[in-house]
Amino acid sequence: RLLIIDFGSQVTQLIARRLRELNVYCEIHPYQNVTDDFLAGFAPKAIIFSGGPDSVMRDGSPRPPQSAYTLGVPILGICYGQQVMMHDLGGRVEAGEHATAEFGRAYVAPASDHPDFLTGWFLDGKEQVWMSHGDHVAEIAPGFQVYGTSPGAPFAITADLSRNFYAVQFHPEVHHTPNGATLYENFVRLAGFTGDWTMGAYREEMIAKIREQVGSKKVICALSGGVDSSVTGILLHEAIGDQLTCVFVDHGLLRLNEAEQVVQMFRDNYNLNLIHADESDLFLGQLEGVSDPETKRKIIGKLFIDVFQKYADQIEDAEFLAQGTLYPDVIESVSFSGGPSVTIKSHHNVGGLPEKMGLKLVEPLRELFKDEVRALGHELGLPASFIGRHPFPGPGLAIRCPGEITRDKLDILRKADAVYIDQIRKHGLYDEIWQAFAAILPMRTVGVMGDGRTYDYALALRAVTSVDGMTADYYPFTHDFLSETSTRIINEVKGVNRVFYDCTSKPPGTIELE
Ligand code: XMP
Repeated sequence: RLLIIDFGSQVTQLIARRLRELNVYCEIHPYQNVTDDFLAGFAPKAIIFSGGPDSVMRDGSPRPPQSAYTLGVPILGICYGQQVMMHDLGGRVEAGEHATAEFGRAYVAPASDHPDFLTGWFLDGKEQVWMSHGDHVAEIAPGFQVYGTSPGAPFAITADLSRNFYAVQFHPEVHHTPNGATLYENFVRLAGFTGDWTMGAYREEMIAKIREQVGSKKVICALSGGVDSSVTGILLHEAIGDQLTCVFVDHGLLRLNEAEQVVQMFRDNYNLNLIHADESDLFLGQLEGVSDPETKRKIIGKLFIDVFQKYADQIEDAEFLAQGTLYPDVIESVSFSGGPSVTIKSHHNVGGLPEKMGLKLVEPLRELFKDEVRALGHELGLPASFIGRHPFPGPGLAIRCPGEITRDKLDILRKADAVYIDQIRKHGLYDEIWQAFAAILPMRTVGVMGDGRTYDYALALRAVTSVDGMTADYYPFTHDFLSETSTRIINEVKGVNRVFYDCTSKPPGTIELE
């Protein structure tokens, strides 16, 4: 296994991701925890020093244990990691001044000969890289040679080939170093990794870690039916079986047959302790007459916590709460003062619960990106249709029913949404679209059907492409698709006599209507 020593870079997790893509097992540990003893116990086959915000010239700035250099294993230092290596091994680092600090895109050109570490590099002469450094190496350590330079970093790529030590000033793990993965590939090959680690192995490791963390204690998990909470629940179930209880809160704002499908899927395939908390009367009752979007969200968020707590209280001596937090939800950084600080975005449905209930957190997906969670879901046997589902917001249909929510409107919306999604699937467009849904508009319009006048609801259809939901473009359906879908909805769903297609991007619109 490979050890990544984290000196606090915002992109350390991307190193781990690049290595997982190469099927190499690695672990990230903050530098404070990596002592000589730790290192001896861990027995890494190779080590990577991450970047970091500090300056090696500052007294007390982060360092690896010095035994790292005498273990006889390959080391790769990145940015701050390079500077640490040069400093520790007898080179010299200079403080950044405006003239030498470098941020953003740069081009590295070859210098001297072409070591094995650079196989696949400089095929077209120079390589685009991403730099982000204040300090810079002024003198390389004895034994090192320069293999790549950039205008701002004369020592952009350095190595001591006899010891298998490599040190680069730029960040090969980020997207803006397009050929960066090749350097990781070369490094792990030179370190003797065969790339035989898989998501199946990750599953086993996570299961072992969960068992170690939880012991014989009980765990509760809020299952929403989304991919993240589903994978979390199943992984926990594999690890600790009946010590886990999942609570599926049905707030009455789910899509057509969704609650039944989710519960059925879990009962049929996984046999886990699952409480189906049908609290729709409570939620819909409290939402009666409420039309302000933020008030809706607040009511739903608060009720969710109350309800979850009510069910969780029935489970005696639950000590842990399992949550499907993903890496992008976690901003981890090692601050200048030395202590790692962790901030989690507060958008989780159960945010605030652990403190309130005195629960400890189990977050087995904390290291993963969304596509890796999907791969893990696949590994755990979740049906493909489940894994590939579009995102669905916590407040559910409440925010797709602008204005006042009534059971009538929700029924109409559910049916229309099902027809719309059926159309998208039939035309093979589901996976091309990031999110698609119908919304019921707070107005009635006049129409004519057969010989009669109608006065029914109007519906808005939304479909967007996006990478992360932060920005989005509306999906360019063909006119044929739109007419066919509009006709089907009006014919099949009583209560709708008009269909609009929303062709607003985000910004200026948002994805949801509220
Ligand atoms: P907007 O509407 O802000 O949506 O462009 C971006 C993404 O976030 C989802 N969304 C929510 N998810 N609680 C959630 O859990 C919410 O209150 C909420 N509001 C929007 C939305 O479905 C889209 O994927």
